[in-house]
Amino acid sequence: MEKRFDKIIDRRNTNSYKWDVKENELPMFVADMDFEVAPSITKTLSERISHPIFGYSTMPDSWHESYHFFFKERYGWEIEKDNLLFSLGIIPTISTSVRAFTDEGDEIIVFTPVYHVFFHSIENNKRKVIKSPLKYENGHYSIDWVDFENKISSPKCKMLILCNPHNPCGRIWNKDELERIGNLCKKHNILVISDEVHGPITRPGKEYVPFASVNDTNKEISIIALAPTKAWNIAGIQTSAAYAYNKEIRNKLEFALNADEVMEGNVFSYLIPKACFIDGIEWLDEMREYVYSNIETVKKYIEENIPSLSVSEIDATYLMWIDISKISKNDEDFCSFMRETTGLYVSKGSTFGEEGKGFFRLNVACQRSVLLDGLNRLKKAVDNYKE
Ligand SMILES: Cc1ncc(COP(=O)(O)O)c(C=O)c1O
Repeated sequence: MEKRFDKIIDRRNTNSYKWDVKENELPMFVADMDFEVAPSITKTLSERISHPIFGYSTMPDSWHESYHFFFKERYGWEIEKDNLLFSLGIIPTISTSVRAFTDEGDEIIVFTPVYHVFFHSIENNKRKVIKSPLKYENGHYSIDWVDFENKISSPKCKMLILCNPHNPCGRIWNKDELERIGNLCKKHNILVISDEVHGPITRPGKEYVPFASVNDTNKEISIIALAPTKAWNIAGIQTSAAYAYNKEIRNKLEFALNADEVMEGNVFSYLIPKACFIDGIEWLDEMREYVYSNIETVKKYIEENIPSLSVSEIDATYLMWIDISKISKNDEDFCSFMRETTGLYVSKGSTFGEEGKGFFRLNVACQRSVLLDGLNRLKKAVDNYKE
């Protein structure tokens, strides 16, 4: 296992968004892993490529069956075949839902700091972002329930975009929290779009909770965006699914996804879920072990060598959230300084909303040797930085 994930694969000059950086730079920003994919993925793709015609595709039964198998086995959640729709990506599903279920000028709430593309899906469609800042205490993030209910009781507020588990802080929302979100959203007539793309990437021994698996209320008031793309690192192959239990919601969503022309995949899109959700499970669990031992490595390194920084609790994703507020209130300045002087390229915290000021996000889905290089660069930057 160690060998598989320790293997360095040169991604420079491969049109990789992550690795399109200067020679001396080390990218640890965008959510993209540097590991060789599961053998089942390479096998599925090579078999398909060996047939030399790439015309329009139909959807095999394995597409539904793969989602059904994985979510039932792992989380006890039954995904009924008819309730699952194909969509090219998580963000296409979110943006389409924004347009289909809200009107221009409506308010859409998010828990911040949060994956910044949610802001784009809302604002590009002329809706208003309403932030409910998460509370941050002793490295732990939690929902401010009073603030949340206050904001969703506005008649203009129509939708919650939930990140479950949460990117960037890596919180797994537990059953009680998801139930409380569901009850409040039902009370105030809020549609929940739950983005669960990071769901399978959790600390070994812990699992995330699919929003719709919690109870009937949650099922009735939500659209769940699912995909194997983050956990198996195949974002370059566009494939995802949107689950809607409520018939009225599902019909409207299907019409809107169709109108946006995001319901048809490429030749690989329909084949790849089986390679991940059924045949790629061993790889997934090994990856989680490796990534979480990277996370422990970072925590230990920071404790021993850079005590002015601290690391927030993390149980999901491979994206660590590092508190630099003791050395800088200006994350943008610190991150630019670090990139310029050491080449280490991370995501500045304020990208995820102003609540992310004084933090940066570090992608640790890389080989241990690369991680150690990154940590040494980080120490150098902190040692030399003056605000
Ligand atoms: C929370 C979250 N949602 C969605 C995406 C992107 O999904 P897609 O490429 O399927 O649109 C990302 C990518 O990093 C993400 O972190």
